[in-house]
Amino acid sequence: MTLLPAASAYAREVDWLLVSLLGISLLVLALVLGLMAVYVVRYRYDSGLDRGALATKTWRIEVAWTAATLLGFFGLFIWGANLFVRMYQPKSDPLTINVIAKQWMWKIEYPGGQREINALHIPTDRDVQLLLTSEDVIHDFGVPAFRVKRDVLPGRYEALWLRSDRPGTYHLFCDQFCGTDHASMVGTVTVMSGPDYQKWLESNGASVGLVVEGHTLFIKYGCGGCHQNGLSGGGGTVRAPSLNGLYNSPVPLSDGSTVIADDRYIHDSILYPQQQIVASYAPVMPSFNGVISEEELVKIIAYVKSLAPRVAEASTP
Ligand code: CUA
Repeated sequence: MTLLPAASAYAREVDWLLVSLLGISLLVLALVLGLMAVYVVRYRYDSGLDRGALATKTWRIEVAWTAATLLGFFGLFIWGANLFVRMYQPKSDPLTINVIAKQWMWKIEYPGGQREINALHIPTDRDVQLLLTSEDVIHDFGVPAFRVKRDVLPGRYEALWLRSDRPGTYHLFCDQFCGTDHASMVGTVTVMSGPDYQKWLESNGASVGLVVEGHTLFIKYGCGGCHQNGLSGGGGTVRAPSLNGLYNSPVPLSDGSTVIADDRYIHDSILYPQQQIVASYAPVMPSFNGVISEEELVKIIAYVKSLAPRVAEASTP
């Protein structure tokens, strides 16, 4: 298991699962082939054994053998399914980093406004949520040292979770053939201890954060003309839902269902506003698909997330 570095506890568990699966499979194989070999020799043509008396059939061995293999492999299945769910399920209070793929590079955007190409830096012992999206075709974000990968789809947000306890630099690959230079769409994931990470963030300090850039775009695209928001408190001639405190709150839809306004919901509402209409509002919002780039969306979403919760409004008489 030292062939490939394992940068997370999950990665080491994946290795144990693989070794167990391999071990049990070899055991079954050895038993079946071993018995075959024994019988081939023992009952060979000139062995002189008495073949007259038929053996009496016993169900004990049959049942024990079937039950043992069933339990063994079913146990591995449950372990694997459980591990998969634990690796990919959302964690609380993550550090969220945006990853935008395009032919043929990875663009990384940090909450503080720092950005990199083909390099990702994360701190140790912290749940990191990568929000992946693509500007063109399907790519796949794969980090072997974490034993994880995720398809990166145009126009959609996919989440990938990382948590490392081992500082170091690991390979990052594109795992989906995406065109001529697919093979060069590689990079590094660098894991640093908490203090080192802070220093790194500061030495790569951005001039302005994502939120400020997002607010500039919010004005540029005229979003505030319809949507009330924390800074302008605007609202115009068209009645549109307020964005204050929207992030992570439940949104009632016109079809009677309710969704949580997470990154994906905000992203999709901007690109495909007709898909999920907020209850009691007219479907008048135009689509910004092809107008706003994925990089700009990251900033606008950061701005929407920053808007103050509704509590302040509600307390006003
Ligand atoms: Cu991107 Cu292969």
